[in-house]
Amino acid sequence: MPVIIFTFSVIVSAGYAQFVTKGNNQKDQVYCRIGEETILYCPRSADNSSVTWLGPPNLIPYTDGKEINNDLRKRLPTDLTITNMTNTHYIFSIEHTELILSCSVRRGNPVETLQWTRNGIHIQNQNVSLSISKDNISEIATLQYSFVSSREDNKDNFTCSAESSITEEPLSKTVYLNVYYTPTVIAAVYPSNEIRESSDISLQCNADANPEVKKYTWQKHGRVLANVSVYNVTKIDRSQTGEYMFWI
Ligand SMILES: *[C@@H]1O[C@H](CO)[C@@H](O)[C@H](O)[C@H]1NC(C)=O
Ligand SMILES: *[C@@H]1O[C@H](CO)[C@@H](O)[C@H](O)[C@H]1NC(C)=O
Ligand SMILES: *[C@@H]1O[C@H](CO)[C@@H](O)[C@H](O)[C@H]1NC(C)=O
Ligand SMILES: *[C@@H]1O[C@H](CO)[C@@H](O)[C@H](O)[C@H]1NC(C)=O
Ligand SMILES: *[C@@H]1O[C@H](CO)[C@@H](O)[C@H](O)[C@H]1NC(C)=O
Ligand SMILES: *[C@@H]1O[C@H](CO)[C@@H](O)[C@H](O)[C@H]1NC(C)=O
Ligand SMILES: *[C@@H]1O[C@H](CO)[C@@H](O)[C@H](O)[C@H]1NC(C)=O
Repeated sequence: MPVIIFTFSVIVSAGYAQFVTKGNNQKDQVYCRIGEETILYCPRSADNSSVTWLGPPNLIPYTDGKEINNDLRKRLPTDLTITNMTNTHYIFSIEHTELILSCSVRRGNPVETLQWTRNGIHIQNQNVSLSISKDNISEIATLQYSFVSSREDNKDNFTCSAESSITEEPLSKTVYLNVYYTPTVIAAVYPSNEIRESSDISLQCNADANPEVKKYTWQKHGRVLANVSVYNVTKIDRSQTGEYMFWI
């Protein structure tokens, strides 16, 4: 009987991979470099029985008969990245400016679902958009969420995740938002009612800001009293009447 050699060419992506043909179940080891193209041979008697190549992972079909069929190859999504994320998983923004959270992943097969969650809640609105691009290796999906950041968003966590029917756990990354905002100042005098001579009073100034306010200064008529946020005066007398100001 004549012998036909069914060949199959693959780009090797692992140091060692096992390919077998369905039917004669012949196994052989082929050594080659990662990234190199190699040709696998399968000598078979020339009958009309079908040939299918199986390969990694777990001997999944690579061909449909003799034809390579990439749709058959299951691939996990990989390389999930969040743009402008620091090594410590922060994203910086300034209050009242538009922020774009952008997450990209190499698409798998079957195609994964890509999503953004904020403090554990799935973000689903008109400001979330998905786009698909391509490089020389695969398709890349990018999911962007844009919004105008505010001080209430500071320290919120955002997670981008990619999940498909073959991912055991979603592929995901979390970033923490650091929103810079100007100080909101609360100043108060205690006791807040009428101040009697020889009582103790407390002048208090608190500023909410990011970055945090490090230095407070209390002044009276331009003279520095103290570099503290809480300034106490004991046994106040009428000579201490005047305008007190604080600086941050
Ligand atoms: C294989 O198929 C071809 C065409 O489909 C046919 O002509 C040939 O006789 C078949 N050979 C055998 C061994 O069945
Ligand atoms: C990432 O940061 C650069 C530089 O600040 C900025 O131009 C770009 O728009 C940012 N990209 C996203 C997606 O936020
Ligand atoms: C994100 O925020 C949610 C709600 O505040 C919290 O339950 C969750 O643990 C946070 N996740 C991370 C990774 O910090
Ligand atoms: C893809 O293209 C980049 C440059 O754009 C190149 O460095 C890389 O080697 C290419 N990868 C493959 C697998 O061809
Ligand atoms: C969508 O973006 C616009 C413009 O940045 C903003 O005004 C609006 O509040 C955003 N909507 C949601 C639901 O985040
Ligand atoms: C200042 O006065 C307040 C209110 O009486 C008190 O809680 C605080 O401990 C005092 N601070 C100092 C530095 O004495
Ligand atoms: C407050 O800080 C200023 C500037 O750092 C310094 O010159 C001043 O001596 C400080 N005043 C007090 C009362 O500590």
